[in-house]
Amino acid sequence: MTRKIIIDTDPGQDDAVAILLAAASPELEVRALTVVAGNVPLSYTRVNARKVLELAGRTDIPVYVGCDRPMRRKLVTAEHVHGKTGLDGPDLPAPTMAEQSQHGVDYLIDTLRAAPAGTITLCPLGPLTNIAMALVKAPDIAPRIAEIVLMGGAYFDVGNITPAAEFNIYVDPEAADVVLNSGVKITMIPLDVTHRALATKPRLDAIAAIGNRSGNAVSAMLNFSERFDLAKYGWGGAPVHDPNVIAYLLKPELYTGRQINVTVELASELTLGMTVADYWQITKRPRNVFYVRDVDAQGFYDLLTDRLARLP
Ligand code: RIB
Ligand code: CA
Repeated sequence: MTRKIIIDTDPGQDDAVAILLAAASPELEVRALTVVAGNVPLSYTRVNARKVLELAGRTDIPVYVGCDRPMRRKLVTAEHVHGKTGLDGPDLPAPTMAEQSQHGVDYLIDTLRAAPAGTITLCPLGPLTNIAMALVKAPDIAPRIAEIVLMGGAYFDVGNITPAAEFNIYVDPEAADVVLNSGVKITMIPLDVTHRALATKPRLDAIAAIGNRSGNAVSAMLNFSERFDLAKYGWGGAPVHDPNVIAYLLKPELYTGRQINVTVELASELTLGMTVADYWQITKRPRNVFYVRDVDAQGFYDLLTDRLARLP
């Protein structure tokens, strides 16, 4: 039985790798991509999503364009990591596949209302604006969502865009608050786990050795996007955040975590967007999130490399 998913994304090299992993995995039925502003403005993410699907030979997956800015705040982007286009590294051709005309938020609402309850999993890989807007516009969809498996947040590994906050949550903290209080089953893949699965040279070499166009493109993407994190952290490799969401769906046994409360800071300028994880269950706040804390890093890269090899 394939698992039906919708990927909400702000590509972004690591988003691209996640999309490729999903496109290569028959266990998953990717119903659509919904695109959001984040790593770079929507004008780029809407193009990058289609470039990646064409690279994967998966133009059967429709692309719906969502929100171009957070619910309340000005957009914060990350060109310093991802480059001007958001997909710097490989030279991918301009897409020829069309976008869908329906807005991404309305697509989420209509699709969740039409599908049998509990059959669609949402996989947000960027700021949660589209997901939150759908939940605000149509609260009836919340019980219809099977699960939200998102990349975002940080606690033990602290922030990456500020000392306190991870980028996806920081860009639209109000959207994260809507999602965290939605009552939907949520699995969070935070920096605490993505920082434990680094793209070391042997792992990058294995991807480069695949020899197909997808492997070559991923190699170029990661060689570009890693430079910022290598300089910042001084580690032997850079994290590749978003594909962990897809790998969790494919092989949850690679990951460990616990059901705890996660609350997002909305008021303090100093810690805006911080995900306060009650990991030791000190409070009586509702345990609203399965918070992933660790990963079998080599198992993740073995899975990723194996699946990339199945693509064109
Ligand atoms: O903090 C990492 C997250 O922010 C990833 O999803 C990356 O693509 C960026 O969106
Ligand atoms: Ca992303």
